[in-house]
Amino acid sequence: MSGTIRVGVIGLGMGAGHAEQFNRLPGSTVAALADLNRDRLAAVGKKLGVAEQFTSALKMMDKVPMDAVVVATPNKFHAPLTIAALERGLHVFCEKPMAMNLAEARAMKAAAARARRRLMINFSYRFLPMSMALKQQVDAGVVGPIYFGRTVWHRQRGMPGFGGWFGDRKLSGGGPLIDLGVHRIDLALWLMGRPEPISVSGSSYNVIAKRIAAEQKKLFTVEDLACGIVKFANGATLVVEASWALNIQDPEHMITSLYGEKGAITQKNLGGGYHYQAELVTEEQGCIFTKTLAQSTRKTPSSQEEFLACIREKREPSASADDGIRVQKILDGLYASARRGREIVFAKRS
Ligand SMILES: NC(=O)c1ccc[n+]([C@@H]2O[C@H](COP(=O)([O-])OP(=O)(O)OC[C@H]3O[C@@H](n4cnc5c(N)ncnc54)[C@H](O)[C@@H]3O)[C@@H](O)[C@H]2O)c1
Repeated sequence: MSGTIRVGVIGLGMGAGHAEQFNRLPGSTVAALADLNRDRLAAVGKKLGVAEQFTSALKMMDKVPMDAVVVATPNKFHAPLTIAALERGLHVFCEKPMAMNLAEARAMKAAAARARRRLMINFSYRFLPMSMALKQQVDAGVVGPIYFGRTVWHRQRGMPGFGGWFGDRKLSGGGPLIDLGVHRIDLALWLMGRPEPISVSGSSYNVIAKRIAAEQKKLFTVEDLACGIVKFANGATLVVEASWALNIQDPEHMITSLYGEKGAITQKNLGGGYHYQAELVTEEQGCIFTKTLAQSTRKTPSSQEEFLACIREKREPSASADDGIRVQKILDGLYASARRGREIVFAKRS
């Protein structure tokens, strides 16, 4: 595709940041904005100088000429809005989680295939330069085949928009597992080379957030902690943990460690906040060495840049519908396992 890619942005929380990026990047512009909240709509429209503003995303897509949309609404609307956009011939950049469940995720992929349009899921953590640096080490064979990992995101107390849609299962599909765990699971799967999950066993709890919700009279119908174990067709195992409320020391604790035959990699946050570090462990001549990434000296694309590139180059995005589906299968499986109190073994079909 030549010329400027015109993007419509639906949902202006996280979507406001995407709108800023697409307005800033060469080769794209924000054509229109949609949000149910008129104040947000007007504020973002004013800040970015976007006059086309709609409280209906469908109207926006029908009235304003555009090439692509960002779907950054509560999770419940990811599938219907993505499918509506694809059916109108638009490419879609959809926020994580891909959908509320696996069936919706598969319907989204099918719609993209029918429309022959790009569908990218914003698994933003793999676009950190340090994540890409770790991926390079894995792909170069430095740590050898990965057979075990642990991927974690815990918050001490951090229910997003407490009392709002994040804690309402009907709008979110679940709690910290589908909200935070989704990032850490994707990061692990991508670094591991996308192994196929064959079974999961999970538990979920609602202990601390339930107590606080009762005290503050807030709606909270999801878990506050989920954990589980995922087994893959290649024999690898991944431990998953995610919480919004857990009695930990730091406000926020994120770590993904993956262990291979020749070494290991870790991506983690520092000081309980949103600064990160990447580490590489290798076994060489009978000694274990640890390296810390000081700086990435090459430019790596942001997720928005990757989306624009895959439209121009008519190729699958690196964070594809298939990646979203693989993660969603694990999420669905862990929730089902927690509910039923037993391991879930996936059928052969992907
Ligand atoms: N990739 C990341 O790191 C990241 C970070 C935060 C949020 N997210 C994801 O982004 C999505 C939005 O989260 P958020 O934190 O911005 O939530 P938010 O509640 O702050 O914003 C959502 C916005 O969508 C609007 N909205 C709701 N239904 C709509 C509809 N049908 N049509 C148009 N607008 C609608 C709301 O009015 C609101 O302004 C979620 O799926 C979330 O998981 C991703």
